[in-house]
Amino acid sequence: MSQFWKPGAEKPRLLDDEEGGVVFLSSSLSSASSIGYGYASIEKQRQRLPVYKYRTAILYLVETHATTIIVGETGSGKTTQIPQYLKEAGWADGGRVIACTQPRRLAVQAVASRVAEEMGVKVGEEVGYTIRFEDFTNKVRHLSSYLSIFGVIIFVMHAGISSLAVQDLTAIKFLTDGVLLREMMDDPLLTKYSVIMVDEAHERSISTDILLGLLKKIQRCRSDLRLIISSATIEAKSMSAFFHARKGRRGLEGVELVPRLEPAILSVEGRGFNVQIHYVEEPVSDYVQAAVSTVLLIHDKEPPGDILVFLTGQDDIDATIQLLTEEARTSKKNSSGLIILPLYSGLSRAEQEQVFSPTPRGKRKVVISTNIAETSLTLEGIVYVVDSGFSKQRFYNPISDIENLVVAPISKASARQRAGRAGRVRPGKCYRWLYTEEYFVKEIPAEGIPEMQRSNLVSCVIQLKALGIDNILGFDWPASPPPEAMIRALEVLYSLGVLDDDAKLTSPTGFQVAEIPLSIWVSGRGAQKELDEAKLRFAAAEGDHVTFLNIYKGFLQSCKSSHWCHKNFINYHAMKKVIEIREQLRRIAQRIGIVMKSCESDMQVVRKAVTAGFFANACYSEAYSQSGMYKTVRGSQEVYIHPSSVLFRVNPKWVIYHSLVSTDRQYMRNVISIDPSWLLEVAPHFYQQHRLNPIH
Ligand code: CDP
Ligand code: MG
Repeated sequence: MSQFWKPGAEKPRLLDDEEGGVVFLSSSLSSASSIGYGYASIEKQRQRLPVYKYRTAILYLVETHATTIIVGETGSGKTTQIPQYLKEAGWADGGRVIACTQPRRLAVQAVASRVAEEMGVKVGEEVGYTIRFEDFTNKVRHLSSYLSIFGVIIFVMHAGISSLAVQDLTAIKFLTDGVLLREMMDDPLLTKYSVIMVDEAHERSISTDILLGLLKKIQRCRSDLRLIISSATIEAKSMSAFFHARKGRRGLEGVELVPRLEPAILSVEGRGFNVQIHYVEEPVSDYVQAAVSTVLLIHDKEPPGDILVFLTGQDDIDATIQLLTEEARTSKKNSSGLIILPLYSGLSRAEQEQVFSPTPRGKRKVVISTNIAETSLTLEGIVYVVDSGFSKQRFYNPISDIENLVVAPISKASARQRAGRAGRVRPGKCYRWLYTEEYFVKEIPAEGIPEMQRSNLVSCVIQLKALGIDNILGFDWPASPPPEAMIRALEVLYSLGVLDDDAKLTSPTGFQVAEIPLSIWVSGRGAQKELDEAKLRFAAAEGDHVTFLNIYKGFLQSCKSSHWCHKNFINYHAMKKVIEIREQLRRIAQRIGIVMKSCESDMQVVRKAVTAGFFANACYSEAYSQSGMYKTVRGSQEVYIHPSSVLFRVNPKWVIYHSLVSTDRQYMRNVISIDPSWLLEVAPHFYQQHRLNPIH
């Protein structure tokens, strides 16, 4: 069964002036195909992008409107071009900075390198980026070459120039929306930025939504600030209504305010080609096998053109790559021309470069990606899309207080975006292999739900409180979160001692929590058996957190050797990141006056510390339970230890987990065993004696 869909048929159109201060622009498009981009000069490539025709209009709208909403198909040049137009028009003069936010770290790095390349500079100079734990801005140019020549004297000058240069070298800065929020803690009005472009706004991540709410507030105090809200598919009218609805500030009668407060909306017409959609006739059961077979079928039957496969996460991407590599090797048909590459956040620079580099003649690239390639990144040369139709999504139930990472169907809007990736260079094909056409039409929701409305809001509330937003329930959100989720978050923070009786951040604990970002970064790759053996070498009876600590200690003892990592199936880059993060945390701790003290070999201290942070995630196994089943203390939900945990099959009576994933069951990931009496010690508000006693 197949149907035709023309990307662009349902693209948002320009609204007329009545509906919000809009300039109409014709959509005459260059008919030049993007095939052959590799041969054109960078300047020619820039001029061929659909957004180029709108350069003057964009600059005019930004000049005259506080907020400009720009909608344009993926690949039309919004992210890479608009910040450059702004710089060329003088928005970075006088040491001011143009910011462009992205929901994803990988996209930040990729677009910063592309824009730096287009401008002929190094990343970190005029074009920089900042993601959590990585700041590539305001690097002094070319000094390293002088250093070798002039030695010590220049070194001293270098130090001097570095400190001077911190003001203004980076004119265009790409950053995640989370990092921009964090910057607001030091500079609430974001004074160094002249224009802030909130890109990929349709993703509606929690950070994007908080940012939109706060930027609207900042606009009241800064008439010089300009906002651009850009995305592939945003509901432009409701976004415009959000920015237009304000209390208080009005223009004097008969006097027009400059900039105008009602947002301008601009739609950039793309040049998508037809994409033919193929559905399976019967739903398939083996998801990875079906993806692999579809890729091999395309490679066998279809003319040249790269393939983009959408899966849900690193695990199934790695499994698919392994199976595809094996089947391609043993296949009777000629599969030698396949270049198989993963695409997910956390890839090394070299791995990213491979994905973006042009496909050699006679070869076919197969990129196996998470939904990062849906709109954040454009890959040239894709003609075939193989779409699972699913992604990993967060779902939170405030009643049971359980947040799950669930593999769930994507919306129709997302499915169309994914299909559109096949129509960039010429007519393409999209294979939806996990559901039938009937299921797609009848069961798949038209739009996704903003993350804000399906997440645990603890960290969101801390951030707002730390920024001095006391009336969280009355905050002006683009989409209001459910009140139950807000109340749950306030309750948890109160029990943690982060909020006081007036729901204000306690000082200093609350501010300390708001400043400290945390992640765990260990991953392994390779043959399962060897990987399992390597894991056993570090496994600790106490649980995964102590195991991670063993790995960290081993890495230090090896003098941070990459060979040691390779031997032990540990990701060297991840370990280097761990070292960097620890150093950052150490600096934050020092700045806010926390005295660092080693736990030496006392693992009980570590387990108690984890308990203090994650007491809400405590679970117990019932005495008669043979099945490895646990129950959460708070919601009595059934959960199981994930097979990747060192405590899988060990099943201690009491555990705390770090996160839950749902597949066939609810699995706890990163689990540590605890003594239940600690729960009363660290969170007496939460766990009264009577709730724990019957279980002892
Ligand atoms: O933001 P939008 O999706 O509208 O487009 P963009 O990311 O600015 O991409 C415009 C063009 O730059 C596309 O043709 C991409 O192929 C190219 N690009 C690239 O070659 N490498 C990157 N890292 C990013 C963009
Ligand atoms: Mg973009």
